[in-house]
Amino acid sequence: MSTILALETSCDETAVAILRGAHDHCVVELLASEVASQIAVHEKYGGIVPEIASRNHLVHAPRLLERATCDAKIEMSQMDAFAATSGPGLASSLMIGASIAKGLAIGFNKPYLAINHLEGHLLSPFFLSASHREAATTEDGTVRRNVSLIVSGGHTMSIFVRSLAEYQLIGRTVDDAAGEAFDKVAKMFGLGYPGGPEIEKHARSGDPERFDLPRSMLDSENFSFSGLKTAVRYLLPKIAGRFCETPDGELRLTETPYKMDDRVIADLCASFQQAIVDVLVRKTIAAAQKFNVDLVTMSGGVSCNQELRRQLAATCARAGFKLKVPEAWLCTDNAAMIAFAALLRFQNGFQSSMTQEIDPNLALA
Ligand code: KG4
Ligand code: ZN
Repeated sequence: MSTILALETSCDETAVAILRGAHDHCVVELLASEVASQIAVHEKYGGIVPEIASRNHLVHAPRLLERATCDAKIEMSQMDAFAATSGPGLASSLMIGASIAKGLAIGFNKPYLAINHLEGHLLSPFFLSASHREAATTEDGTVRRNVSLIVSGGHTMSIFVRSLAEYQLIGRTVDDAAGEAFDKVAKMFGLGYPGGPEIEKHARSGDPERFDLPRSMLDSENFSFSGLKTAVRYLLPKIAGRFCETPDGELRLTETPYKMDDRVIADLCASFQQAIVDVLVRKTIAAAQKFNVDLVTMSGGVSCNQELRRQLAATCARAGFKLKVPEAWLCTDNAAMIAFAALLRFQNGFQSSMTQEIDPNLALA
């Protein structure tokens, strides 16, 4: 048995998790998982303010560490290793989690593991199957050969996973990430942040075929979503009122938010969501065929999207691929996925040097 404590502070979420796993990777027990979100703090600035994010990590982290060890009924000295996200992300945020994990590792004389945030997402589909003894273990642990789609607010990429720590980049976005497109388009529609869940909610009653939106770069293994965002931007003045009412009742010409009735919003959300789902599903299946795998996995915040999950599952079933997607709580940023990646690495003999620095641009492959 190994017990790992991990911190995730790559962006605006402070998270701590404690995970225990047996050496055959079959039994994994999540002893604690704490996440403190800062969405409300940054919302009023219209984006994340790095300095505020890192100051809040410093406030939240000690409290979460205390609560996690208390929930897990375990002492810090009983951990076998300490881990933290070392990139990619905001430098001033990454620094906090990595410094705390290193400090604990030095203080308790235990190994330190620097984990790539993207590897946390990438391996998260194996998390539950590992704890449920469902996945037949191969000689390289629970991680089976697969083609993986990581789709989040900061990243959109497909990866060929040979085994643990053997990853090959297939394609990545050349401009916006899919989650970023959801967030930006939601803002144009006057919906809240994060935009993905808002668009999904309105899309449920909408017609996905009402607006013909572009599916970019279908012949490439890379992704592009900025053309889709621009197409929505130019569509809005044609279909929505361009006047808004000021607080004193005057009508003024406006750019955003547009005056739209609920029907138009629902149809726009459904059409936009379908354009993204089409591209993600088509490219993932094409990659799975090219790399001749029998398993497809998907992770990251956008993989919470029920329509994406449903359509990818249906297409995988038709094409003869198995699909593994984490439960929704594991899709958005959390420390359990970092602890899981650290546990698999630790049990396979990986460790990081205490001199290992954070890297805001850390690549996965
Ligand atoms: O993985 P994550 O928590 O953070 C990053 O590493 O980026 O992903 C956050 C992103 C946001 O852009 C958010 O709008 C998107 O995931 N997201 C969704 C949904 N839930 C979250 N996008 C589409 N549909 C959803 N249900
Ligand atoms: Zn993430």
